[in-house]
Amino acid sequence: MASNNHFLLMFAVALLSFLPRTSLSIPFVVFHGISDNCNNKGISQFTTLLSDWSGAQGHCIEIGNGALDSWTMPFFEQTALACEKVKSMSELSGGYNIVGLSQGNLVGRGVIELCDGAPPVRNFVSLAGPHAGIAAIPLCQSAWFCILVDFLIELAVYSNYVQEHLAPTNYIKIPTDLDSYKNGCKFLPVLNNEFHKNSTYKKRFSSLENLVLIKFENDIVLVPKETSWFGYFPDGSWDPILPAQETTLYTEDWIGLKTLDEAGKVKFVNVSGSHLEVSYGEMKDYILPYLLENSTAQPRLSKSSHASAWSPHEGKKLKLYASD
Ligand SMILES: *[C@@H]1O[C@H](CO)[C@@H](O)[C@H](O)[C@H]1NC(C)=O
Ligand SMILES: *[C@@H]1O[C@H](CO)[C@@H](O)[C@H](O)[C@H]1NC(C)=O
Ligand SMILES: *[C@@H]1O[C@H](CO)[C@@H](O)[C@H](O)[C@H]1NC(C)=O
Repeated sequence: MASNNHFLLMFAVALLSFLPRTSLSIPFVVFHGISDNCNNKGISQFTTLLSDWSGAQGHCIEIGNGALDSWTMPFFEQTALACEKVKSMSELSGGYNIVGLSQGNLVGRGVIELCDGAPPVRNFVSLAGPHAGIAAIPLCQSAWFCILVDFLIELAVYSNYVQEHLAPTNYIKIPTDLDSYKNGCKFLPVLNNEFHKNSTYKKRFSSLENLVLIKFENDIVLVPKETSWFGYFPDGSWDPILPAQETTLYTEDWIGLKTLDEAGKVKFVNVSGSHLEVSYGEMKDYILPYLLENSTAQPRLSKSSHASAWSPHEGKKLKLYASD
């Protein structure tokens, strides 16, 4: 008898250890930045760490072939591919969270706003997202490539050819050339409900439970870095950089940012690093709470209360761009 009970106990323990630890937290997906690839070390470590800490399934969703397509595939195509992928993943059907890195934030927002029939997105954690546009090309890494890119941009950033072959131009907004932007820029104006308003996009974006906007204080890749918080240059001028609350996107509530903010659902976070260099401690403070089930109840955003509990390696940093 005793050995039978022992056997049953062992059996129960074995069974429990096979149950997914993920039963309490909904899954999350990561959209990486430009030049990166889901298989690169930085991004896969990032996804694994967040998954281990939260007990939630984490998936880095690749768009096309990764690095090259992130540069060359127009954003409507990138978004459409992402849309099909999230719809095909049955594990997301009950709702999921998105973590966006740099340019990947616009893929994430594309999925939230434009993807018909997609599963609901609960929390959107955005690291260094060019939400309000950028005024310079990010991270061109090799000399020949930078020369080519500069050449294309000077040629005509808003021409059909450039828009269809150089993805970042889909969210370049030159504040002193807004007519060309309005007529030529193929993605950002749609995503931001800037000239033609689609109430569906606004409704979907407003339905987020939390929008966490993380800005890197020493970000020199995003011009201006305030775009991570939906801040931007004023129309027609290069200064001063307006905080989100003073932009028309916010005051006229084009996509629901004001609605979310007034409901206390937008967290404006700044961290001290340069573009996409985030420490373990910052990940635990600003990302992890939103990946935990019912995180909306009490996300811990106060750094000081948490800092004392950090072990020394919490200061360790991940570089989340094209690091291999
Ligand atoms: C707005 O977006 C929805 C969802 O994609 C689409 O079905 C609808 O046709 C769009 N409306 C307009 C006026 O473009
Ligand atoms: C965040 O922003 C505030 C206000 O601009 C600033 O005082 C602070 O040093 C910034 N950085 C961090 C890491 O909090
Ligand atoms: C989350 O909240 C819902 C509704 O308030 C509740 O039914 C559920 O049990 C909670 N889940 C956890 C893991 O606390």
